Amino acid sequence: MTRPSWAENPWKQNPWFESIAVAQRRAQRRLPAPVYGALVAGSERGQTIEDNQAAFAELGLLPHVAGHHADRSTSRTVLGHEVSLPVLISPTGVQAVHPDGEVAVARAAGARGTLMGLSNFASKPVEDVVEACPRTLFQMYWTGDRDVMVQRMTRAHRAGVVGLIATLDWSFSMGRDWGSPEIPERVDLKTMVRMAPKVVTKPRWLYQFGRTGQVPDLTAPNLAPPGGGPAPTFFGAYYEWMTTPPPSWDDVAWMRETWGQISGTPFVLKGVGRADDARRAVDAGVDAISVSNHGGNNLDGTPAAIRLLHPIATAVGDQVEVLMDGGVRRGSDVVKALALGARAVLIGRAYLWGLAANGQAGVENVLDVLRGGLDSALLGLGLSSIDELTPDTLLVPEGFHRS
Ligand SMILES: Cc1cc2nc3c(=O)[nH]c(=O)nc-3n(C[C@H](O)[C@H](O)[C@H](O)COP(=O)(O)O)c2cc1C
Repeated sequence: MTRPSWAENPWKQNPWFESIAVAQRRAQRRLPAPVYGALVAGSERGQTIEDNQAAFAELGLLPHVAGHHADRSTSRTVLGHEVSLPVLISPTGVQAVHPDGEVAVARAAGARGTLMGLSNFASKPVEDVVEACPRTLFQMYWTGDRDVMVQRMTRAHRAGVVGLIATLDWSFSMGRDWGSPEIPERVDLKTMVRMAPKVVTKPRWLYQFGRTGQVPDLTAPNLAPPGGGPAPTFFGAYYEWMTTPPPSWDDVAWMRETWGQISGTPFVLKGVGRADDARRAVDAGVDAISVSNHGGNNLDGTPAAIRLLHPIATAVGDQVEVLMDGGVRRGSDVVKALALGARAVLIGRAYLWGLAANGQAGVENVLDVLRGGLDSALLGLGLSSIDELTPDTLLVPEGFHRS
């Protein structure tokens, strides 16, 4: 029998992690404090970010003692694509976690049979990410004028993305009670010297970048002007977003229609928290919505996304696919979201921690942890497929849902 490589040195840490909580601890140990702080994010009092996870724990499961199924299925069709587990990669714009960044995440998504969401503020060009995972959805905020948006949609379509995610839940809330991490405008020599004390204590993170000869890229290449102009910095891109007048429902319908003309692939509206908005999204012609509070990064005090899910799913029925994101940290959370009406969930921090802990393999590890937990919950519940999950699968405390 060949010994696994980690067993050859008893002091070497097994790079595999058994839960998302372990991945988070490893990410915290490995990353410089401001980079880890940027991943945790959250806003104001941090109430929503906490509730996103706490609410999942309020939902109970009642397993059977016998009569279980030996074969269980976790696959289904989401946005027209067969996925091997109903967990998609949510777009996130944190760039300094790992030198391979979104390309590593995309490879992991492809390897594990799911879809990749690529942020507007990603550090890697959409062309490279689609090459790593052909089933990539491009995410856009409402930023820039319509001509600029058309140009960005066209570039994403030409790169081969399989759908567009419009994220519109953002209100530029500033300030966190625990203090915001410092994010430099760009990583030049001056910044490196200034931030050195926070970074020298994280040799593994430094080594990763050193090996590739790269410094953390704080630009947004997918927002570069056509014809090869320089990509804006993260703050330049954020400024454009802040100064763009907020979208109306007519703008949503325009965006949906324009994407349809350019690409003809699905259009997802992310950030829906109200049943009336969900109905308007249906009227605007979207193919799917994600019930989401931006992972607790938007308006603090918004209830956990899982509390909002069932009323919204009931309001729209099967007119659109309903996804949800926010607080998913284990396979049983996926079960709970599916039981309350989600076709699939999206994850954010969980894969960012996996990426920080162990690159592409760490993101695959996260997806495997979620798949394992999902399968074990199905086994315990006596179900043979995720298609059998309904609200009756769960013990839902009175007053849990918010509408
Ligand atoms: C650090 C960070 C950056 C994010 N950046 C984006 C983004 O660029 N676009 C977007 O649509 N959502 C963004 N999100 C929100 C995620 O897509 C997702 O809604 C959220 O992370 C889900 O919650 P979870 O982290 O608890 O899984 C970001 C979230 C985090 C934590």
